[in-house]
Amino acid sequence: MTPAPSSSAVPPSSAPAWATLEALADDAGATSLRDRFAHDPDRAARLSGAVGDLWVDWSRQPVDDEVLGALADLARQRDVPDFCARMLAGVEVNPTEGRAATHAAQRAPDGLAGFDRMADLADGIRAGTRTGATGAPIRAVVNLGIGGSHLGPAMAHEALGHLAHPDVEVRFTASLDGAAVGDALAGLDPAATLVVACSKSFTTPETMVALDTATDWLRAGVGNDLSRHVAAVTAVPSLAEARGIDPDLVLALPDTVGGRFSLASAAGLALMAAIGPDAFADLLAGMHAVDRHLGEAPVESNVPVLLGLLDVWHRSFLGATALAVVPYADGLRNLPAHLQQLMMESLGKQVAADGSPVEGPTGAVVFGAPGTDAQHAFFQLLHQGTDVVPVDLVGVARPVADPRGAHHDLFMANLLAQAEALAFGRTEAETAALGTPPERVAHQAFPGDRPSTVILLPELSPAALGQLVALYEHRTVVQAAIWGINPFDQWGVELGKQLATRFADLLAGGEVRDEPAAPLVRRYRELRGG
Ligand code: F6P
Repeated sequence: MTPAPSSSAVPPSSAPAWATLEALADDAGATSLRDRFAHDPDRAARLSGAVGDLWVDWSRQPVDDEVLGALADLARQRDVPDFCARMLAGVEVNPTEGRAATHAAQRAPDGLAGFDRMADLADGIRAGTRTGATGAPIRAVVNLGIGGSHLGPAMAHEALGHLAHPDVEVRFTASLDGAAVGDALAGLDPAATLVVACSKSFTTPETMVALDTATDWLRAGVGNDLSRHVAAVTAVPSLAEARGIDPDLVLALPDTVGGRFSLASAAGLALMAAIGPDAFADLLAGMHAVDRHLGEAPVESNVPVLLGLLDVWHRSFLGATALAVVPYADGLRNLPAHLQQLMMESLGKQVAADGSPVEGPTGAVVFGAPGTDAQHAFFQLLHQGTDVVPVDLVGVARPVADPRGAHHDLFMANLLAQAEALAFGRTEAETAALGTPPERVAHQAFPGDRPSTVILLPELSPAALGQLVALYEHRTVVQAAIWGINPFDQWGVELGKQLATRFADLLAGGEVRDEPAAPLVRRYRELRGG
């Protein structure tokens, strides 16, 4: 299909709502969240809503109906609904790579073309009928991949660990550090192991080097016939086959599915081996529910659009530079890392999709850690630091485990307490009234007006997880559409990759010339010895 004209050619500030929002931003701090709630008893009910099984509460954001109305106008004036519709329809929305972005089509009913092949393999492993070179059943799957070929599936595997097959060990490894692949293979029996090389390009050095190491390990265990021990997930099957991987175990990834958007694709093979095809299908269905919501709900009640607009409100109008994501579920401990790639690789752009410089800030720094761990690590800065950092607090209503019934309500009470403390703080007068020594009052008072959004999942089910991931995917795309940048490319990772190749030659003994890194290279060689 031919690309439609893009609003990226027109700077966002030329949208009439931009100036309205600038004026509203000047006044945004004038009304505290305390006052906003005091003057509007229905605020919490009005500024929250459902998407699929998720409940999202944005009432602790510095917005009122006027701001939300202007943000919705901005979305329309920037053709956000149209951009989302074109993405969902498979129109080319990734102009710098000349492609559509078809991740949503993968999770539509019957949309994942390789699902049956994945399911056959996963079922065989789970049933113990899939055997290796020696006839021993495959009992372990090790996914080698990095970035989008790792973060989403590894995050989902951690989150859905309670559903994993007890006799199938599934591991993920990404880092080029040799210790990482060593750890991933440690204790496994090569005769019972399937290694999955997951790489869209099948050229990423981190994954190719790990594949060679894993292949050596397999050969040492079972001999040279690895046709039942190595699988590949890639958009370039010929490269996998050229490395000797049996075509029967090469699963295709469409090149229109970006790595960080690829959870619902063959990149989920190892995850499927752990949780099974039915649970994987539930994950896809959850994502699809949010895809439909994105395409069908009006701007004002479209939750991913709203969350993307709130991100723009913070970044473009209120000057926020970061977003913290804090899941109150240990299974979601890898969610911040997945979202870091999703949002920062998609939104870390300095030029618009047409190559012209952007006129203002784009993607925020995304970071996070699980709930109470994060409270004892970086919440000090969130409560009393000099920067305002918007926070997403992600909770789960029904826990995976709650020994003695003593953990979960207390855990969720912490989520609610943090949302409350961030929003409403504690004035110096209130602090003094608690009997605080006068010299400590300034230290122990909390400014409040620190924004947060609460996202509540009913439970850590595949469907709810899929909804959560799709919600963040679309929220990311919405920001890009407002700013006119391309969320689907990642040219910013290329220079470092190219230089690494040059430095690898240098470290392998190449001549060190008069260059900035020369002293460091010499010192490294000296220390490394050998
Ligand atoms: O980090 C850059 C990147 O290209 C990501 O976009 C991608 O997810 C990752 O590398 C891995 O790439 P591949 O799947 O091609 O190995």
